[in-house]
Amino acid sequence: MSERRPFVGGNWKMNSTLKGASELIRGVADALAGEIAPIDVAVFPPCVYLLAVKSILRDRQSPIMLGAQDVYPEAEGAFTGEVSVDMLRDCGVQVILAGHSERRHVIGEDDELINRKVKAILEGGLRCVLCVGETLEQREDGRTHEVNEIQLRSGLAGIAEGLVDNLVIAYEPVWAIGTGQTATPDDAEEAHEKIREVLKDMYDGVSDRLRIIYGGSVKPGNAAGLFGQRSIDGGLIGGASLKIADFVPIVRASMQSVRSASE
Ligand code: PGA
Repeated sequence: MSERRPFVGGNWKMNSTLKGASELIRGVADALAGEIAPIDVAVFPPCVYLLAVKSILRDRQSPIMLGAQDVYPEAEGAFTGEVSVDMLRDCGVQVILAGHSERRHVIGEDDELINRKVKAILEGGLRCVLCVGETLEQREDGRTHEVNEIQLRSGLAGIAEGLVDNLVIAYEPVWAIGTGQTATPDDAEEAHEKIREVLKDMYDGVSDRLRIIYGGSVKPGNAAGLFGQRSIDGGLIGGASLKIADFVPIVRASMQSVRSASE
């Protein structure tokens, strides 16, 4: 367990209904009320449910952060279907994902667009979770670290050290996302260490403070093993974040890793 403050995010992807999303956030916020002080917890609902989720969090004075799954890097204008950083901030959003593998590989976003998004988010004063990770083919070709490095350097191109305090990196091996296959804690740890070396080369002054979280089939049964690793500062949770009975114990596993580290 590291000395960095862990970050656990629930990425709801394109799931649920207004009623379901409201019940989910109520259940999570109530279960964790008064508990999450030592870590950062965020949820990333579908864009159309952001205001409803925000209102429930506000009513409960919950410290759970509101996150958005995507953003467009321009400030305003003729960009049909898109929303800006300012619009998301207006809805109470504090943190935004960029470079998620589904946006890269299903929607077809390239490194240049992802870089513009990261810049717009950080320059707009919000937190950004930049996701990187290799496909199964790239892993089998022994290219894991190279792919992560390329995605980091291009995603963060032109972003000054003064802006990266609000940056979290999520290492999400594509072959582990939604597949039930998880990287072993040792494999994930190794990838995180390499990612930190790249960050150190890019941002020597602040790299030790940047959080690197793991995503890809994190479940209540494997969370403690992953979060117990020195270089793993929390997780980005997809499928398991849709069930109160799964997400809450995962958040608690992260809190437990903080307690274990201070004992
Ligand atoms: P998963 O998704 O937990 O369902 O594998 C993780 C993610 O895509 O962020």
